[in-house]
Amino acid sequence: MENVVNKKSACLKIKKNLGEKAIILASKLEIVDRELEIRRDDAFIYVPLNRQPSEDELKALREKLPSCEISTKIFHERKKQIAFTELLEDKLPPHLLASLPRAIDFVGDIAIIEIPQELEAYRALVGEAILKTHESVQTVLAKTGAVSGTYRLREFSVIAGKPKTETIHKEYGCQFYVDLAKAYFSPRLCYEHNRVASMVKDGETVIDMFAGVGPFAILIAKKHENVKVYAIDVNPHAVEFLKKNIRLNRVEGKVHPILGDAKQVIEEKLLGMADRVIMNLPEKAIEFVDIACKAIKPKGGIIHFYTFVSGFDSLENMKLKLVEAVEKCGRKVEVLFSRFVRATAPYEWQAVIDAKIL
Ligand SMILES: C[S@@+](CC[C@H](N)C(=O)[O-])C[C@H]1O[C@@H](n2cnc3c(N)ncnc32)[C@H](O)[C@@H]1O
Repeated sequence: MENVVNKKSACLKIKKNLGEKAIILASKLEIVDRELEIRRDDAFIYVPLNRQPSEDELKALREKLPSCEISTKIFHERKKQIAFTELLEDKLPPHLLASLPRAIDFVGDIAIIEIPQELEAYRALVGEAILKTHESVQTVLAKTGAVSGTYRLREFSVIAGKPKTETIHKEYGCQFYVDLAKAYFSPRLCYEHNRVASMVKDGETVIDMFAGVGPFAILIAKKHENVKVYAIDVNPHAVEFLKKNIRLNRVEGKVHPILGDAKQVIEEKLLGMADRVIMNLPEKAIEFVDIACKAIKPKGGIIHFYTFVSGFDSLENMKLKLVEAVEKCGRKVEVLFSRFVRATAPYEWQAVIDAKIL
C-alpha cells in the first residue's frame, strides 16, 4: 500500500465556484503551500497555505473574495514528481541525455514533445518514461512536422500509450473537446485567451475571425453575462468541435459558430457590428486587416492582431505595418499594447498587438 503523509495546515476555504480565482490570487500573494494537495468537498475548496496571511494580504483576499475564510485542515503531501529524464539516465547513451526534450506540452491527457533526430531510435523509451512519470497522461505524441496549411494543422505520431489524438482539455474553468489531428489547438496560448477575455466589457459584440475550437470565444462567453460572440472558422472539424464546446460549456445563445472564410462571412453578415475583433491567424492576419476594420462599428473598437516576428524583423516594424494597413482602409488607429506571446521556431516569435480603431 502507498504511504500517504498527512499534515495539518492553515488554509483558505472558499466556495467551489470561486476556487480558481482563489488559487490565482493566493499564488500571486505567494502564500500557497505547494507541498500539499488542494482539498475539495461538495461545496468548498481548501487551499493549503505556507503561512498565515498578513493583514494586508487578508484585506486583498477579502476585497476580491468576500466569502473566503482562513481555516485549518489536514492535507495530503504531494507525491514528489520524478522527472522523466531521471528514468532514462541508465537507458540512453550518456552523450544523448543532453538532447532530451525539456518542454512537454499537455493537452488534456495527451503529452506532446519534439524528438530530436539523434533520439529517434529511443523515442518509444522516451514516451514510456513520460507515461510513467505523469499519472494523468494516457498518450504521448511526437511532433513530426511543422504547423502548416489553411487549417494550421501539424502531424504527430503516437510514441507511447493509447493511439489517439483527441481529448478534453481544461483551461480557466472551461473544457474543450480537441482533436489535434483535425483542428488547431495550443495550450501555450492560454494566457492570451484569458488576457483577451478579461478585457471584454459587458454588452460587447465580439468577432473571433479564426476561432478554432473556441478557446477565446467560449472563455469570453463564460466570463461575461451579456456578450455576443461570432466565432468563425473555415475548418469544418474545428467548427464541429466548437459547437460541441459551446454545449459542453453551456454558452449556447452567446457564442454563434459560423463555418466559412472570415472575409466572406463578415462581408455578408457582420459589417460594422463588432466592438472587438480577434485575429489569431499570425501568418496571414495582415491580409485580413481591411475586413477587420469593416467589421468594427463606425464609432470604433479594438482589434487583437496576432503576427509572427522573425529575428530579422522587429515588433516595432510589425506595428508600423499594422498602422499602415488600417490607414489604407480609411480609419485611424492607436496602438494600445503589444507583447511577445511565445517562441514558435528558432529566431521566430508570435506577438500580439492590441489596437484601437477609430
Ligand atoms: C492559429 S489557429 C487559431 C485558433 C484559435 N483562435 C486558438 O487560439 O486556438 C487559426 C485558425 O484559423 C482558421 N482559418 C484559417 N484561414 C481562415 C479563414 N480564411 N477564415 C476563417 N478561419 C480561417 C484555421 O482553420 C485555424 O483553426
